[in-house]
Amino acid sequence: MTAEYKKVTTNTIQKMKVAGEKVSMITAYDYSFAKLFDAAGIDIILVGDSASNVMAGHTTTLPITLDQMIYHAQSVVRARERCLVVVDIPFGYYQSNSEIALASAIRIMKESGAHTVKLEGGEEIIDSVKKIVSAGIPVMGHLGLTPQSINKFGTYVVRATEEGEAEKLKKDALLLQEAGCFAIVLEKIPAVLAKEVSESLFIPTIGIGAGGDCDGQVLVMHDMLGINTEFKPRFLRRYLNLDEQITDAIKQYVTDIKSKDFPNENEQY
Ligand code: KIV
Repeated sequence: MTAEYKKVTTNTIQKMKVAGEKVSMITAYDYSFAKLFDAAGIDIILVGDSASNVMAGHTTTLPITLDQMIYHAQSVVRARERCLVVVDIPFGYYQSNSEIALASAIRIMKESGAHTVKLEGGEEIIDSVKKIVSAGIPVMGHLGLTPQSINKFGTYVVRATEEGEAEKLKKDALLLQEAGCFAIVLEKIPAVLAKEVSESLFIPTIGIGAGGDCDGQVLVMHDMLGINTEFKPRFLRRYLNLDEQITDAIKQYVTDIKSKDFPNENEQY
Protein backbone atom coordinates (compact mmCIF):
# COMPACT_ATOMS: atom_id res chain seq x y z
CA MET A 1 0.00 0.00 0.00
CA THR A 2 2.85 2.43 0.80
CA ALA A 3 4.83 1.60 -2.37
CA GLU A 4 2.93 4.17 -4.43
CA TYR A 5 4.83 6.98 -2.68
CA LYS A 6 8.29 7.12 -4.28
CA LYS A 7 9.64 9.56 -1.69
CA VAL A 8 7.85 10.25 1.56
CA THR A 9 7.52 13.95 2.41
CA THR A 10 5.49 15.82 5.00
CA ASN A 11 2.84 16.23 2.25
CA THR A 12 2.72 12.46 1.82
CA ILE A 13 2.08 12.03 5.54
CA GLN A 14 -0.78 14.54 5.31
CA LYS A 15 -2.21 12.70 2.27
CA MET A 16 -2.08 9.43 4.22
CA LYS A 17 -4.24 10.94 6.96
CA VAL A 18 -6.80 12.14 4.42
CA ALA A 19 -6.81 8.74 2.70
CA GLY A 20 -7.10 6.88 6.02
CA GLU A 21 -3.77 5.13 5.43
CA LYS A 22 -1.86 4.53 8.67
CA VAL A 23 1.66 5.99 8.93
CA SER A 24 4.48 3.62 9.92
CA MET A 25 7.39 5.04 11.91
CA ILE A 26 10.37 3.47 13.70
CA THR A 27 13.51 4.81 15.33
CA ALA A 28 16.98 4.24 13.88
CA TYR A 29 20.34 5.70 14.74
CA ASP A 30 22.80 4.25 12.25
CA TYR A 31 23.31 3.58 8.53
CA SER A 32 22.89 -0.21 8.45
CA PHE A 33 19.57 -0.46 10.28
CA ALA A 34 18.20 2.65 8.55
CA LYS A 35 18.99 1.06 5.17
CA LEU A 36 17.07 -2.11 6.11
CA PHE A 37 14.07 -0.19 7.48
CA ASP A 38 13.90 2.15 4.48
CA ALA A 39 14.09 -0.76 2.01
CA ALA A 40 11.37 -2.60 3.97
CA GLY A 41 8.98 0.30 3.31
CA ILE A 42 8.85 2.24 6.55
CA ASP A 43 7.32 5.72 6.04
CA ILE A 44 9.25 7.67 8.70
CA ILE A 45 12.55 7.04 10.48
CA LEU A 46 12.86 8.95 13.72
CA VAL A 47 16.39 9.62 14.88
CA GLY A 48 15.11 9.73 18.44
CA ASP A 49 16.93 11.06 21.45
CA SER A 50 16.20 7.56 22.78
CA ALA A 51 19.70 7.08 21.27
CA SER A 52 20.79 8.37 24.68
CA ASN A 53 19.33 5.17 26.22
CA VAL A 54 19.69 2.48 23.58
CA MET A 55 22.92 3.57 21.89
CA ALA A 56 24.81 5.25 24.73
CA GLY A 57 23.45 3.39 27.79
CA HIS A 58 22.23 6.43 29.73
CA THR A 59 19.19 5.99 31.99
CA THR A 60 17.39 9.03 30.49
CA THR A 61 17.33 10.97 27.22
CA LEU A 62 18.75 14.08 28.89
CA PRO A 63 22.52 13.64 28.44
CA ILE A 64 22.65 13.31 24.63
CA THR A 65 24.11 16.36 22.88
CA LEU A 66 23.18 18.13 19.67
CA ASP A 67 26.50 17.05 18.09
CA GLN A 68 25.75 13.41 18.95
CA MET A 69 22.22 13.67 17.49
CA ILE A 70 23.65 15.18 14.31
CA TYR A 71 26.15 12.30 14.03
CA HIS A 72 23.32 9.72 14.28
CA ALA A 73 21.16 11.70 11.85
CA GLN A 74 23.96 11.93 9.26
CA SER A 75 24.35 8.12 9.33
CA VAL A 76 20.60 7.58 8.89
CA VAL A 77 20.27 10.15 6.09
CA ARG A 78 23.06 8.41 4.12
CA ALA A 79 20.89 5.27 4.05
CA ARG A 80 17.65 6.99 3.08
CA GLU A 81 16.12 6.31 -0.32
CA ARG A 82 12.41 6.76 0.35
CA CYS A 83 11.37 7.49 3.93
CA LEU A 84 11.03 10.82 5.74
CA VAL A 85 13.77 11.43 8.33
CA VAL A 86 12.77 13.21 11.56
CA VAL A 87 15.37 14.18 14.17
CA ASP A 88 14.77 14.96 17.84
CA ILE A 89 16.19 18.26 19.08
CA PRO A 90 17.73 17.05 22.34
CA PHE A 91 17.14 18.41 25.83
CA GLY A 92 18.75 21.81 26.45
CA TYR A 93 18.86 22.91 22.81
CA TYR A 94 15.41 24.53 22.44
CA GLN A 95 13.84 25.16 25.84
CA SER A 96 15.62 28.49 26.63
CA ASN A 97 14.19 30.58 23.79
CA SER A 98 13.05 30.45 20.19
CA GLU A 99 16.35 31.85 18.79
CA ILE A 100 18.28 28.95 20.35
CA ALA A 101 15.62 26.51 19.14
CA LEU A 102 15.90 27.80 15.57
CA ALA A 103 19.72 27.68 15.68
CA SER A 104 19.56 24.02 16.81
CA ALA A 105 17.03 23.11 14.12
CA ILE A 106 19.15 24.80 11.44
CA ARG A 107 22.26 22.90 12.57
CA ILE A 108 20.37 19.59 12.33
CA MET A 109 19.01 20.38 8.86
CA LYS A 110 22.26 21.80 7.48
CA GLU A 111 24.72 19.29 8.93
CA SER A 112 22.68 16.07 8.62
CA GLY A 113 20.43 16.60 5.60
CA ALA A 114 17.39 15.39 7.59
CA HIS A 115 13.93 16.57 6.55
CA THR A 116 12.29 17.63 9.79
CA VAL A 117 12.82 18.06 13.54
CA LYS A 118 10.81 16.97 16.58
CA LEU A 119 10.33 18.87 19.86
CA GLU A 120 8.62 17.80 23.08
CA GLY A 121 5.95 19.95 24.72
CA GLY A 122 2.93 22.16 24.02
CA GLU A 123 2.13 25.77 24.94
CA GLU A 124 5.52 26.31 26.63
CA ILE A 125 7.45 25.71 23.37
CA ILE A 126 4.94 27.23 20.93
CA ASP A 127 7.13 30.28 20.10
CA SER A 128 10.00 27.96 19.19
CA VAL A 129 7.74 25.84 16.98
CA LYS A 130 6.51 28.97 15.15
CA LYS A 131 10.05 30.30 14.71
CA ILE A 132 11.35 27.00 13.30
CA VAL A 133 8.34 26.53 10.99
CA SER A 134 8.68 30.11 9.71
CA ALA A 135 12.26 29.30 8.67
CA GLY A 136 10.88 26.56 6.40
CA ILE A 137 11.71 23.64 8.67
CA PRO A 138 8.85 21.17 9.25
CA VAL A 139 8.21 20.35 12.91
CA MET A 140 6.75 17.22 14.50
CA GLY A 141 5.29 17.78 17.97
CA HIS A 142 5.38 15.33 20.90
CA LEU A 143 2.79 15.27 23.72
CA GLY A 144 1.80 12.94 26.55
CA LEU A 145 4.79 11.17 28.06
CA THR A 146 7.66 13.49 27.19
CA PRO A 147 10.85 11.74 28.36
CA GLN A 148 12.91 14.96 28.42
CA SER A 149 10.70 16.08 31.36
CA ILE A 150 11.16 12.88 33.38
CA ASN A 151 12.62 14.80 36.31
CA LYS A 152 9.44 16.90 36.56
CA PHE A 153 7.14 13.84 36.56
CA GLY A 154 9.46 11.34 38.25
CA THR A 155 7.85 8.35 36.54
CA TYR A 156 7.10 6.87 33.11
CA VAL A 157 3.46 5.98 33.92
CA VAL A 158 0.54 6.66 31.54
CA ARG A 159 -0.07 10.41 31.18
CA ALA A 160 -3.25 12.51 30.97
CA THR A 161 -5.47 10.09 32.88
CA GLU A 162 -6.77 13.03 34.98
CA GLU A 163 -9.20 15.51 33.41
CA GLY A 164 -6.97 18.57 33.91
CA GLU A 165 -3.98 17.00 32.16
CA ALA A 166 -6.20 15.59 29.38
CA GLU A 167 -7.71 19.07 28.77
CA LYS A 168 -4.22 20.61 28.60
CA LEU A 169 -3.11 17.93 26.14
CA LYS A 170 -6.10 18.60 23.85
CA LYS A 171 -5.40 22.35 23.97
CA ASP A 172 -1.68 21.80 23.33
CA ALA A 173 -2.43 19.57 20.32
CA LEU A 174 -4.54 22.34 18.75
CA LEU A 175 -1.88 24.95 19.52
CA LEU A 176 0.83 22.80 17.88
CA GLN A 177 -1.36 22.34 14.82
CA GLU A 178 -2.02 26.10 14.61
CA ALA A 179 1.70 26.80 15.04
CA GLY A 180 2.34 24.74 11.91
CA CYS A 181 3.37 21.25 13.10
CA PHE A 182 2.89 18.66 10.35
CA ALA A 183 2.29 15.77 12.81
CA ILE A 184 2.25 15.07 16.54
CA VAL A 185 3.56 12.06 18.48
CA LEU A 186 1.19 11.01 21.29
CA GLU A 187 3.08 8.93 23.83
CA LYS A 188 1.53 6.70 26.49
CA ILE A 189 -1.90 8.29 26.94
CA PRO A 190 -5.34 6.62 27.18
CA ALA A 191 -6.59 5.32 23.83
CA VAL A 192 -9.91 7.20 24.11
CA LEU A 193 -8.07 10.50 24.55
CA ALA A 194 -5.74 9.75 21.62
CA LYS A 195 -8.80 8.97 19.48
CA GLU A 196 -10.46 12.26 20.41
CA VAL A 197 -7.28 14.24 19.70
CA SER A 198 -6.67 12.42 16.39
CA GLU A 199 -10.23 13.13 15.25
CA SER A 200 -10.00 16.80 16.26
CA LEU A 201 -6.87 17.49 14.19
CA PHE A 202 -6.35 17.71 10.44
CA ILE A 203 -2.66 16.81 10.90
CA PRO A 204 -1.77 13.17 11.67
CA THR A 205 -1.03 11.80 15.13
CA ILE A 206 1.60 9.08 15.57
CA GLY A 207 1.00 6.97 18.64
CA ILE A 208 3.27 5.01 20.96
CA GLY A 209 1.21 3.38 23.68
CA ALA A 210 -1.76 5.53 22.61
CA GLY A 211 -4.03 2.93 20.98
CA GLY A 212 -5.09 2.02 17.46
CA ASP A 213 -7.00 5.19 16.57
CA CYS A 214 -3.90 7.32 16.07
CA ASP A 215 -3.11 8.02 12.43
CA GLY A 216 0.18 6.14 12.68
CA GLN A 217 2.36 4.15 15.07
CA VAL A 218 5.98 4.39 16.21
CA LEU A 219 8.18 2.00 18.19
CA VAL A 220 11.80 2.14 19.29
CA MET A 221 13.74 -0.35 17.13
CA HIS A 222 15.60 -1.98 20.03
CA ASP A 223 12.29 -2.69 21.79
CA MET A 224 10.35 -4.12 18.83
CA LEU A 225 13.30 -6.21 17.60
CA GLY A 226 13.84 -7.68 21.08
CA ILE A 227 17.38 -6.33 21.51
CA ASN A 228 16.34 -4.59 24.71
CA THR A 229 14.45 -7.26 26.67
CA GLU A 230 14.27 -5.49 30.03
CA PHE A 231 11.73 -2.96 28.72
CA LYS A 232 8.31 -4.66 28.67
CA PRO A 233 5.50 -2.09 28.58
CA ARG A 234 2.03 -3.33 27.70
CA PHE A 235 1.97 -1.36 24.43
CA LEU A 236 5.09 -3.03 23.02
CA ARG A 237 4.74 -5.75 20.38
CA ARG A 238 7.98 -7.72 19.89
CA TYR A 239 8.52 -8.78 16.28
CA LEU A 240 11.86 -10.55 16.88
CA ASN A 241 13.85 -11.96 19.74
CA LEU A 242 17.25 -10.67 18.67
CA ASP A 243 18.62 -10.71 22.21
CA GLU A 244 18.43 -14.53 22.25
CA GLN A 245 19.48 -14.98 18.62
CA ILE A 246 22.52 -12.70 18.93
CA THR A 247 23.57 -14.25 22.24
CA ASP A 248 23.32 -17.77 20.73
CA ALA A 249 25.28 -16.70 17.64
CA ILE A 250 28.08 -15.10 19.68
CA LYS A 251 28.27 -18.13 22.01
CA GLN A 252 28.60 -20.40 18.98
CA TYR A 253 31.29 -18.12 17.49
CA VAL A 254 33.30 -18.24 20.73
CA THR A 255 32.94 -22.05 20.87
CA ASP A 256 34.02 -22.41 17.23
CA ILE A 257 37.14 -20.28 17.78
CA LYS A 258 38.12 -22.05 21.00
CA SER A 259 37.60 -25.48 19.44
CA LYS A 260 39.56 -24.44 16.31
CA ASP A 261 36.53 -25.24 14.16
CA PHE A 262 36.59 -21.66 12.79
CA PRO A 263 38.05 -20.89 10.33
CA ASN A 264 38.06 -24.12 8.32
CA GLU A 265 39.93 -24.68 5.04
CA ASN A 266 37.15 -23.13 2.96
CA GLU A 267 37.27 -20.01 5.09
CA GLN A 268 40.93 -19.17 4.46
CA TYR A 269 43.17 -18.11 1.55
O1 KIV B 1 13.22 9.36 21.14
C1 KIV B 1 12.34 8.55 20.77
O2 KIV B 1 12.61 7.39 20.44
C2 KIV B 1 10.97 9.02 20.72
C3 KIV B 1 9.90 8.00 20.46
C4 KIV B 1 9.63 7.21 21.67
C5 KIV B 1 8.66 8.61 19.91
O3 KIV B 1 10.70 10.17 20.89
